[in-house]
Amino acid sequence: MSDENGAPRPPEVDEDRRALATWLWRLPVVAAAGGAAFGLVQAYRIHFSKPAATPHPRFADRPVVDVGSLAAFAAPWDAVPFTLAGLPCVAIRLREPVPGGVSEGEVHLAGFSRICTHLSCIVDMTYDPETIAFAFNHRTDRPQLTCACHYSVFDPASAGRAVSGPAVRPLPRVRLRVAREAEDQRLLADGLEVEA
Ligand code: FES
Repeated sequence: MSDENGAPRPPEVDEDRRALATWLWRLPVVAAAGGAAFGLVQAYRIHFSKPAATPHPRFADRPVVDVGSLAAFAAPWDAVPFTLAGLPCVAIRLREPVPGGVSEGEVHLAGFSRICTHLSCIVDMTYDPETIAFAFNHRTDRPQLTCACHYSVFDPASAGRAVSGPAVRPLPRVRLRVAREAEDQRLLADGLEVEA
């Protein structure tokens, strides 16, 4: 295109496209700022905001499971894995009673789901505090439930609270009760904690 003197005309400017182009550079900045804010919130939750297990858990009924004889819990930290309605769980003898647990004389027991509340791997008992410190970066003086996927640690003596790693929520508790059967005492499980 040229003007009446034959000189080339400057190309016409599309103001809408120019306005759009001046806004486009903001998108990656906004995305980066949003990502950073999300990361900060997650970091805060992981490091400073792991809630304690509620002192008054509510349980949903599950078909009764015979976990085993009370004799299997001869000493603190003895643990028996079992399955409750398809869910891997564990019953643990503790030194002190915890909310949601059951006591028979001096025998204090608590049951937990073994599904990690981070991304659902299976948690296991780890007994050696040095192993917990070395492998899971958490200092403690007692056995813990640990998740090898991303190194979360849950404290059975604190009713399953998440104490280290990316998991935030406590492990759901299992409702336990003791039933007498002839000469034996059986530990039964019949409910799973409903998360608040
Ligand atoms: S699934 Fe357990 S820490 Fe990630």
